[in-house]
Amino acid sequence: MVQATPLLLVLFLALGAHGASVKKCNLIGRWVNDLGSNMTITTLNAKGVFTGSYHTAVTATTNEIRLSPLQGSVQRPNQKGQPTFGFTVNWSFSDSITVFTGQCFVDDDGKEILKTMWLLRSRVEDIKNDWKATRVGINVFTRLEQQE
Ligand code: BTN
Repeated sequence: MVQATPLLLVLFLALGAHGASVKKCNLIGRWVNDLGSNMTITTLNAKGVFTGSYHTAVTATTNEIRLSPLQGSVQRPNQKGQPTFGFTVNWSFSDSITVFTGQCFVDDDGKEILKTMWLLRSRVEDIKNDWKATRVGINVFTRLEQQE
């Protein structure tokens, strides 16, 4: 009969090694998305509250683009490796607000990737135009590597 103990030990070690090698996704740092927008997350506290700045590559307005602040929240920052998060960008150069929600993944190559969806609310003068005031979309962010 096959001894169960060594078999269990091997299984335990294999699972342990796999668990240890899983890279955690960390929101802090510089990110670029599929539109070419840049985002920097600078602070993240123990409660998962974070802040940073956003430089969009595009705008729905004719205004000159300026760096804008962002504030967000990440779920269980000290636990599971691929957390969900949300953040708001309060645009400095327009009357609009964007909310993003997403998840921070680590792909098969160990590369971090933020899969997000967003709602961009533009200001309209008249309630009759409310129906066309919200845009929706997706953005995928990857980490901007340090330039040597
Ligand atoms: C505005 O046009 O009023 C503010 C800028 C909005 C930029 C949007 S937010 C969603 C999408 N993702 C980006 O990186 N930029 C656009």
